[in-house]
Amino acid sequence: MSGEQEGEQDSAQDGARGGARRRLRGVIFDLDGVLVHTDELHFQAWSATADRLGIPFTRADNDRLRGVSRAESLDIVLSLGGAEVSETEKEVLADEKNQLYRRLLETMTPDDVSPEVRAALGTLRAMGLRLAIGSSSRNAKVILDKVGLRGLFDAVSDGENITRSKPDPEVFLRAADFLALSPGECAVVEDAHAGVDAALAGGFACFGIGAAATHPDVTWRIDGLAEVPARVAG
Ligand code: BG6
Ligand code: MG
Repeated sequence: MSGEQEGEQDSAQDGARGGARRRLRGVIFDLDGVLVHTDELHFQAWSATADRLGIPFTRADNDRLRGVSRAESLDIVLSLGGAEVSETEKEVLADEKNQLYRRLLETMTPDDVSPEVRAALGTLRAMGLRLAIGSSSRNAKVILDKVGLRGLFDAVSDGENITRSKPDPEVFLRAADFLALSPGECAVVEDAHAGVDAALAGGFACFGIGAAATHPDVTWRIDGLAEVPARVAG
């Protein structure tokens, strides 16, 4: 990293801590657990997989999988049971879990997006903000199409265009690139501790909702997306 880039990153991170002073031009949304309740469907699919392996799996365990890639999630589930399996078997298990999850996704419709989420996205667009998805999921586009949200976003950065999952900032940095904005011009909305870490590491201000609201360094804690437009307007 050059001295100049280093300076830019420092000032962006200072800005993340004092997020209210920024002029925001874009918002990057995590998908699972922020815009739709697919976190619950992930829980059901991982529960079934863990059950088949005889591994106890709780909702608190599921919180550790938020924002984490499918392969890393499987490693966490296996570690809960002290299970050791070959790489080939891991691929089979991850694929089985995904097939279960995809069957659950089939049931999703536009009704799975709450009026609060739709209103917040509509208000942000009316304010002229650029909107993107920043999700570790390889199913993100399928979900956006199922619930009819894809057209509201200017860009989608997801598990298909990254090599490192959250807490690495790659997915958000790509999203900002797609929006042609700098991290300092964007805020991230997250429900995962790993996602908040990723946003802050990338120099973004970050809203924390649900499980992420307990992150000690999150820029703004919110109870619902209705709070986002007012904060962004500053
Ligand atoms: C994230 C979820 O959005 O996507 C994680 O919070 C999940 O729980 C990850 O493991 C990968 O999802 P997928 O759909 O590619 O298995
Ligand atoms: Mg999430």
